[in-house]
Amino acid sequence: MTGGTRLAGEVAVPGAKNSVLKLMAASLLAPGRTTLEAVPDILDVSVMADVLRGLGADTRHDRDEGQVVIDVPDTVESTADADLVRRIRASVAILGPLVARCGEARVALPGGDAIGARALDIHMNGLAKLGAVVDVEAGVLVARSSGRLQGASIWLDFPSVGATENLVMAGVLAKGTTVIDNAAQEPEIADLCALLTAMGARIDGAGTSTLVVDGVEGLRPVVHRTVPDRIVAGTWAIGALMTGGDVMIRHGRAEHLGIVLEKLTAAGASVELGPDGFRVRAEGRPRSIDVVTLPYPGFPTDLLPQVIALEAISEGTSLITENVFDSRFVFCRELHKLGADLRTDGHHVVVRPTPRLVGDSVLASDVRAGAALVLAGLVAEGTTEVRDVHHIDRGYARFVETLTGLGARIRREPSEVAAA
Ligand code: EPU
Repeated sequence: MTGGTRLAGEVAVPGAKNSVLKLMAASLLAPGRTTLEAVPDILDVSVMADVLRGLGADTRHDRDEGQVVIDVPDTVESTADADLVRRIRASVAILGPLVARCGEARVALPGGDAIGARALDIHMNGLAKLGAVVDVEAGVLVARSSGRLQGASIWLDFPSVGATENLVMAGVLAKGTTVIDNAAQEPEIADLCALLTAMGARIDGAGTSTLVVDGVEGLRPVVHRTVPDRIVAGTWAIGALMTGGDVMIRHGRAEHLGIVLEKLTAAGASVELGPDGFRVRAEGRPRSIDVVTLPYPGFPTDLLPQVIALEAISEGTSLITENVFDSRFVFCRELHKLGADLRTDGHHVVVRPTPRLVGDSVLASDVRAGAALVLAGLVAEGTTEVRDVHHIDRGYARFVETLTGLGARIRREPSEVAAA
């Protein structure tokens, strides 16, 4: 890409990656046809569809319609394909539904981005509280339950998104009441609870830190529209601010980006809320802001790399603190190659002002780092090449095409298309 153009125009935000993958897993809880709408055309959805097929669910992904149709048989397999599971972290979301439905789940320890250790102890301890026997056998997480799971009170050590989701999905078919305290409150969890409730589950407190689940005997499949992706919306908002642009972010839910939009406003953006989205405009050099990531409603860790890229071109010095993952700063090395003045120390990075970024060849190490490097390339002098962009395909549908539509001078090399 060649830097120096402002992003202007309109983008439509698709359904959230971090919701739809769990909604797909939840379909396993109900025999019959589940239809998911507003499904993003991203690589992780294709991998998750393969995971479900391997469990016996006939899964069709209509990319043009943005729809996934899943036909779940009366009996599903309890062992997931290890190679597929290792490709995406979200595949661990089949654990809860499988133990609840089959009394057994065998799921290889999942993969995901190179952003930290990403343990599963909170998932495992929670399932054990519900009566499952949980172990790791030769790299495979095995959970077994001799009968129906039994409702229990569970305190999470940390409001883990994945553990909250797994435990809700296990709890909906358990006998009795499950209470999950210190639960994650992300909008994607509220979306999962909305799907489960429509399926016949009884859940109180969706979107809060205490979830109360009264187990039911069975669930029925439904049609559900995925919540819009707040991280994609936030990425375009940061892009608009960095390039001094003007972008209408359709379907963007400002209420899911409270602290993000407040911070971007402090950095100089003007944010205008509309009936179906919001518009972000900016002029001149952004002002620096300090950011601390925290579980929702705190500043999302999935916008941290993009915000570091923003700070790299801002006017003053900024202090960024990462509290959710332990290796999210690896990408700073790549940003440094473009001329950013960054110093990392443990969970903190100090970003000092630099007169300008200059294009170079850099490597995307994960989905958000990749997006952030592209945003940096859009404001760097000359040409920037971002390699391994298949990471970006995991979370952003038609990323390059969307940017081209906003006026960016960017193209995708055929070799990078093959890599996806
Ligand atoms: N953790 C544990 N033990 C556990 C579970 C989590 O120690 O049993 C730790 C993790 O190691 C991590 C922290 O808790 O340091 C947060 O993990 P969490 O379980 O909340 O995250 P996740 O479910 O693995 C999801 C998203 C991430 C997003 C985080 C936090 C999906 C597929 N992934 O991960 O998204 O950053 O929640 O909001 O939903 C991305 O989209 O780029 C991405 C990484």
